[in-house]
Amino acid sequence: MATTWSRDSWRSKPVVQIPDYPDEQALEAVEKRLAGFPPLVFAGEARELRERLARVAAGEAFLLQGGDCAESFAEHHPDNIRDFFRVLLQMAVVLTFGGSCPVVKVGRIAGQFAKPRSSPVEQQGDLELPSYRGDNVNEITFDEAARAPNPERLLMGYRQAAATLNLLRAFAQGGYANLEHMHQWTLGFVKDSPAGDRYEELAERISDGLAFMRACGITHENTEKLRTTNFYTSHEALLLGFEEAFTRVDSTTGDWYATSGHMLWIGDRTRQPDHAHVEYMRGIHNPIGLKCGPSLEPDELIGLIDTLNPHNDPGRLTLVCRYGAETIGKHLPGLIRAVEREGRSIVWSCDPMHGNTVKASSGYKTRPFELILKEVGSFFDIHRAEGTYAGGIHLEMTGQNVTECIGGSHAIKDADLSDRYHTHCDPRLNADQSIELAFLVAELLKRERGQNQAEKPLVAAGQVI
Ligand code: PEP
Ligand code: CO
Repeated sequence: MATTWSRDSWRSKPVVQIPDYPDEQALEAVEKRLAGFPPLVFAGEARELRERLARVAAGEAFLLQGGDCAESFAEHHPDNIRDFFRVLLQMAVVLTFGGSCPVVKVGRIAGQFAKPRSSPVEQQGDLELPSYRGDNVNEITFDEAARAPNPERLLMGYRQAAATLNLLRAFAQGGYANLEHMHQWTLGFVKDSPAGDRYEELAERISDGLAFMRACGITHENTEKLRTTNFYTSHEALLLGFEEAFTRVDSTTGDWYATSGHMLWIGDRTRQPDHAHVEYMRGIHNPIGLKCGPSLEPDELIGLIDTLNPHNDPGRLTLVCRYGAETIGKHLPGLIRAVEREGRSIVWSCDPMHGNTVKASSGYKTRPFELILKEVGSFFDIHRAEGTYAGGIHLEMTGQNVTECIGGSHAIKDADLSDRYHTHCDPRLNADQSIELAFLVAELLKRERGQNQAEKPLVAAGQVI
């Protein structure tokens, strides 16, 4: 690994999953324009997130990361952003209350457009075209012009990210996230579900607590923490030309930061130690994530940690484990033991989505909710057995009432998937399933944090507590 890093040093390395643009010059011109645009986030915010994640690494807080698999240009609507945000807030309330610990909220949003694909081409009948790689690369429509990678779409992606982030900042800081409004966050279709009822009960208890605090003189008028919240953005750093254009020097510290989002991660398909994505990510000072799938061996992981977090800074590196309910037990303990043996500071997070994708008999790609719950339960059980801290969860979810993952209290079945299957890429949890999952994680977190000494595992396959 070369020791000198620059924001374009990735260009001399082998690279995978970056589209072949038919017009290289047009791409270069767009990247040049992007390099002159205002940053989306400030280095100071990324540093603040890193400090919060250091608290997660120390077992003092919990990371809640979630959002669309892929954001789309067509669904860029304020209601979608608001509905996602309110579900995330509800989940955070459930987790904060259940675990009695701060929750660090990070959206897969305001920049989560580009997708790695298992095949570079898609075949339909006799026609073979480039795969859809996310709205900032090409269009999902299956025709030749639509599927050609078009660099102009990067400009659209930037504008959408800026507008989305602007609204999220307003929600987080401008009053929407005020705890006094907790009852109003529930979406209509969640109101009558078991998860909605459970949330209402919990919100009532918190309201009582707030009334007591108000009587003691602590109100949302005089206490900022009650009327605002922390919220950060994240996406997979896949299109390195785009990321390079937003890699800027922080004037306070002189360090390089990615300013396209607060936290960036390396996907499971782009973590080759000598390749371009690892090269780019090692030089930025943001908190970063690394997806860990079944093919990652413990020694290779330690090598990647050496490269990505050579000074062992707490909060710098989050390992996002994505195995599948059936295989997590085979892989995760080995990684944990290697990390412990080497004394590395890590935020351990569980992505129970990407290892549990199946093809339903209807042909839809789906994820059984019971397997998602099972993987999360195993993740906590394994950390408990190893004496380490299960610090976070990474989800594909939406505030919309979609039918993409089977199961949950509405018992979505294979035959229901076609009702509201809207995702541009992978199947997401709907609002109801997301809140149901948050309640499960809250129980696991409570146990992990020693407030419930029950010895038996809390999750039996497919059973929500
Ligand atoms: C994703 O998070 O959407 C993704 C592609 O994940 P992974 O890299 O873990 O497959
Ligand atoms: Co996905």
